[in-house]
Parts: sequence; structure tokens; C-alpha cells
Amino acid sequence: MSNNIFEQAFSAEDFRKQGHALIDMLADYLSDTNSNKQEQGLAIPWQAPEKQLDYWQQDFARRPLHDPLALFKETMARSVKVHHRRYLGHQTLPTLPLSVLSTAVTTMLNQGMGVYEMGMVGNTLEKVLTEHLAGVLGFGAEASGFITSGGSLGNLTALLAARAVATGIWSKGYKDQPQPAVLISEEMHYCIDRSVRMMGFGSEGIIKVPVNERFQLRTELLEEYYQQALADGKQVIAVVGCAGTTSTGSYDDLEAIAAFCQQHQLWFHIDGAHGAPAAFSPQYKHLVKGIEKADSVVVDFHKMMLTPSLSTAVIFKRGSDAYRTFSQRAQYLWSEQDSEEWYNGGKRSFECTKAMTSLNVYTIFRTYGDEIFKENIERLYGLAKIFADLICNNKNLELAYEPEANIVCFRHKTEKDSSRFNAAIRQQLLEEGHFYIVQTILNGELYLRVSLMNPLTSEKELKDLLEEVEKKAADLMKKDI
Ligand SMILES: Cc1ncc(COP(=O)(O)O)c(C=O)c1O
Repeated sequence: MSNNIFEQAFSAEDFRKQGHALIDMLADYLSDTNSNKQEQGLAIPWQAPEKQLDYWQQDFARRPLHDPLALFKETMARSVKVHHRRYLGHQTLPTLPLSVLSTAVTTMLNQGMGVYEMGMVGNTLEKVLTEHLAGVLGFGAEASGFITSGGSLGNLTALLAARAVATGIWSKGYKDQPQPAVLISEEMHYCIDRSVRMMGFGSEGIIKVPVNERFQLRTELLEEYYQQALADGKQVIAVVGCAGTTSTGSYDDLEAIAAFCQQHQLWFHIDGAHGAPAAFSPQYKHLVKGIEKADSVVVDFHKMMLTPSLSTAVIFKRGSDAYRTFSQRAQYLWSEQDSEEWYNGGKRSFECTKAMTSLNVYTIFRTYGDEIFKENIERLYGLAKIFADLICNNKNLELAYEPEANIVCFRHKTEKDSSRFNAAIRQQLLEEGHFYIVQTILNGELYLRVSLMNPLTSEKELKDLLEEVEKKAADLMKKDI
């Protein structure tokens, strides 16, 4: 080993050796977890936070580390297995092995992205990708976008553009400004509520419109809520629709919201983080009918488009709107401060330094084409329907709604307190680790929630899950809970 810490840290030979060993280890992980064999192991090696902390505090005290492979192995052993066929939890996908390779390239290159010179390839790929995606969603040639880190940041960015178009708050602040407000559905992801508060609108600025029994925004109420806002002296700057809600994967009636926004000259933003990629499938694209009428749309590549976290497209119907969001000067980055340059990423994105995640998305498109996204949607949405049928055909179970996407909520029937009973089932599943599912609250009651994210999960794993739920329920029936 060299005495010079930097010679060792940048050693190409160490990297080659460790890299080959790591690829072997990851390939073993892949074949072990993503198989239908019994020896697949646990979907989640659950450990309470204090125990986990204790392990890592002790590990940290054992510095310095000479071989990172043991550390990586331990990290893998202690983590939830998103490639496991019984991983049925949150909307996190099993990454393609191809993406592990593209991520290695982006990490080695470490491009900057805020300014063209520091991200020549990455900024260009963002343009190519977001324009292609805009075309799939049905937008015209004027549309364009960029990539940012996550749906939460993407939604904030789009709403800031809506605010910039409707008000002068960006430069004047809130002086002489009527209370700004946004109309959203009760089922919106919390990041929308958070974005509106971060923009300084406060609670008064969030107008929640109720949803129907399928958890879709009740568009027939929009006019009433809008008129009430005006009567209260508010300035509504936007309506947010959802293409795939978080809890239930429900799609709002985008056509109806678009018509309402057009009638009142309001910005129409769609949170399509989860469900907008339905546009890739001829079978499911009806779910996003009207999406091309939105002023802005957010799509997470890292939810239904097989890309590792985080990578989100923010698409604007009129590409020039994107430059209004952060109209600002940064002398050290851009020589032309006020012009619209797609290739200087920092002009439109909140981020200055940003990972070149566009390469991950681009590599998948170039290798497998649009076909893989179509297949992914059709397989997972189709599997959700099969799962819903299994639930409906079981007299002990109750389906919360007919799923439109790949998110299914259900519960076990009981004479006991239903929420506590089903929470206890889910807690037992978590602690045993053979299946990973989550829970959500619908109409004030707790439901078990399954997101089908792995295209290799089959009906068998879903039948096994229901059997396990029934076993847990039978045990709990005998207990006092
Ligand atoms: C509908 C929807 N919007 C936005 C988000 C937030 O996206 P991110 O986790 O990429 O910030 C989520 C996350 O689950 C979501 O389901």
C-alpha cells in the first residue's frame, strides 16, 4: 500500500480489482433476489432504528476501512430488496443492471450541468429526452423541459413558473398582492401542499377540492370552490391535477380540469410523477387523456420508467415559460443573463450543481426503446387487475377501489377495530420480512397498500401474500387487540 493517501485513493489498479469484485457481488445479489426460488431470502431484513444505529456507530468507530467490499456487502444485507419479487411496498423500482453501469459512468465523469461547458452531453441529453417525452404525452413542437432531482422539486419548480406568470411576487415580494391560492385535490401528494406553503401562500393558499369514491378530484365542484376563493378576495393562480395519486394511483379527469382552466385562464399543472408514463401504452393512454392541455407536467423517470432515483422531467407546454421561473443573474455562469438558452441548465432548474441523471434515462431509451416503458406499464397495471380479482374473490378481504394503475389497497375484514387489526397484520409482515407491503389511510380507515413495481413479480407471489395475510389475521382473531 502506498504511503500517499491520494495515490492510493486514485489507484486505477485498486479500482479495477474492486470494481470487478463488486460487479460479481451485485450480479449474485441480482440472481439471488430477483428469482422465483424459495431461497430468495427476505424482502426486508427489518431492524428497529436503535439497533441499526448501534451497528453503524460501532462500525464507524472501527475506521480506517481498507476494503470497501465488506462494507457494501453489509449495506446490501441490511437493506430492503427492491429487486425481490415479494417487494410490494412503496413506489420504488427495481433498477435495471444497465443503470448500475450508466451510474458508474456519471459518477466517474461528475459533470456540473448548471452551465453548458460543465455539462455538454448531459444538458443536450435533457433536451432530447424531455422533447421526446413531451411528444409521447401529445405536446406540440413548442414544448420543452429539463430534468431535476425528484418529483417534489419538479412540482415546486412548475408551481413557481405558474406564480411567475400570474403575479409579480418573484421581484416585488407580496406587497399589494391579493392572497394567492392553488386549487388541488384532497388526495394530492404532500409535496404540493409543501410547495404552496414554501411559496409563502400559507394555509389560506391551499384550497382542497374533495375527491369521489375512486379518489379522483370532483371536477364538478371546481367552479364552486373557485367562486368562493374569489369571494374571499383570493387570486387563484393554478389548478393542479393528478395523473396517478400516491395512495391509490387514481387519475383525475384531466380533460375536465383543462376545460375549467381554459375558461378561467388559469395555469394547469399536472403531477404525473407516478402515472404519466401510461402515455407509452396504447392500452392505458386513455388514462392521461387531456394531459397535453396542461401548461406544465412533472414525470418521475424513477417511478414507472425504470430509472434509478432521482430523475424527474419538468415539461412546459410553451418551453419559454420555464425561463420565467428563476429569472435571475449569475455573472460567473452565464455571459447572456436574460436570453433563453436550453443548454445552460441552471437557468431553468433550481439546482446549480446537478447529477447527470439524463445518461441513465438516455441509456435505457437507446438500449430498449419506448417498448420497455410500454411493457412495464402494461405488465404492472395488468398485474394490479389480477391482484384486485384475487382480493374480490376472497370473502375475508375487501378491495378499497377498482385500481386504475399498479397501486392496490385492501384490508382484511374483522369484527375488531379494523385499522388496528390491519396495522397489526402489516407490522407482523414487516417484522418477518418475507413480504414488504405498506399501509395508507383512506376515508379515515387504514388499508394495506401494495405497489407493483417489479415486472418479474407474478400472480404466485400475490397469492402467497394473501395467504400470509389470512394466516396473520387468523392468529390475531384469537388475540385481544
Ligand atoms: C404523485 C406523486 N407526486 C410526487 C411525489 C414526490 O416525488 P419524489 O419522491 O420524486 O420527490 C410522489 C412520491 O411518491 C408521488 O407519488
